[in-house]
Amino acid sequence: MTKASDVFTLKNGNNIEVTFIGRGGQLIGIKVPDAKGEIADVVIGYENVDAALAGDGYFGALCGRYANRIVGGKFELDGTQYQLDVNNGPNHLHGGNDGFNSRVWDVEPYADSKYAQAYKLSLVSPDGDQKYPGELTVSVIYGLTDDNELVIDYTADTTKPTIINLTSHAYFNLKGAGTGTVENHILELNADKYTPISAEIGTVTGEIAEVKGTAMDFVDAKKIGDACHSDCPQVKLVDGIDHNFVINGYDGNLKLAARLSDPESGREMQVFTDQPGVQIYTGSHFDGSETGKSGAPIEKWAGVALETQIFPDSPNKENFPNAVLRPGEVYKHTCVYKFS
Ligand code: BGC
Repeated sequence: MTKASDVFTLKNGNNIEVTFIGRGGQLIGIKVPDAKGEIADVVIGYENVDAALAGDGYFGALCGRYANRIVGGKFELDGTQYQLDVNNGPNHLHGGNDGFNSRVWDVEPYADSKYAQAYKLSLVSPDGDQKYPGELTVSVIYGLTDDNELVIDYTADTTKPTIINLTSHAYFNLKGAGTGTVENHILELNADKYTPISAEIGTVTGEIAEVKGTAMDFVDAKKIGDACHSDCPQVKLVDGIDHNFVINGYDGNLKLAARLSDPESGREMQVFTDQPGVQIYTGSHFDGSETGKSGAPIEKWAGVALETQIFPDSPNKENFPNAVLRPGEVYKHTCVYKFS
């Protein structure tokens, strides 16, 4: 039986080292060399496992059953109304008060020649968990390749019709956690459209809008700070970026969603996914009150999360992708973070 504090490490032949714990499958360290071979830990987190267990439970964690917000925690499926637990004002966020980020996953080594090293994380979420219908059986592979890819491969099935949207909630700072903010990081998104939010704590309006002419336009690479400091009303609402982007050409196959780079260290990360969306979140709620790695306070915009996903509140938006999973079907989601 895996314990919350158990630590697991994946290594490849190029000095990349990924560390996670049993609770939430939380990625607590991703060490990546730069061009000169200098190693930095590129995920925001705490100084040790005890601090991670006591701290922000979303850092690097697996989120579910439904990552992101469901407005009012309500949805209808096959004519039945469901009311999920609410934990974010009147809304449901990242699976509720006891989301998958706070569960201890069962972790075992996983053998596959694709990977230099891999682990399989498993969880059974009982029927009625956080008021979701159906018993959901989930497995997630964390695999590290010799091509410097951290592959996160999700599968799940259910005993009753339900909704699902799993993601990973790591915040990246490619210069290194604790070295300042990501304002100078360059972000490029394969997204001509995004889903605007309303004033009511980040819930999507249901509109699918063009990024062109707004701060949300990352089609041509630009500094994250350019968007965060703009007076775009969407940015002002959440003091940064906390938006879902619509990945161009979604067809269920793996596609480049994002490219993030830090000009100073030269580290770059590409994000590939087979999902229709990616939530970009610049950590606007960090306020320096928590101590992170190297003893540095975790400040506003200290890192950026790139959460591949189905769109927020899809179960209530007819024009958004389908998030329903039925018995006999398999939910599949792959996310690849590739470092160079
Ligand atoms: C959401 C933010 C939320 C944060 C909590 C992100 O995925 O987009 O709105 O505050 O999770 O850690």
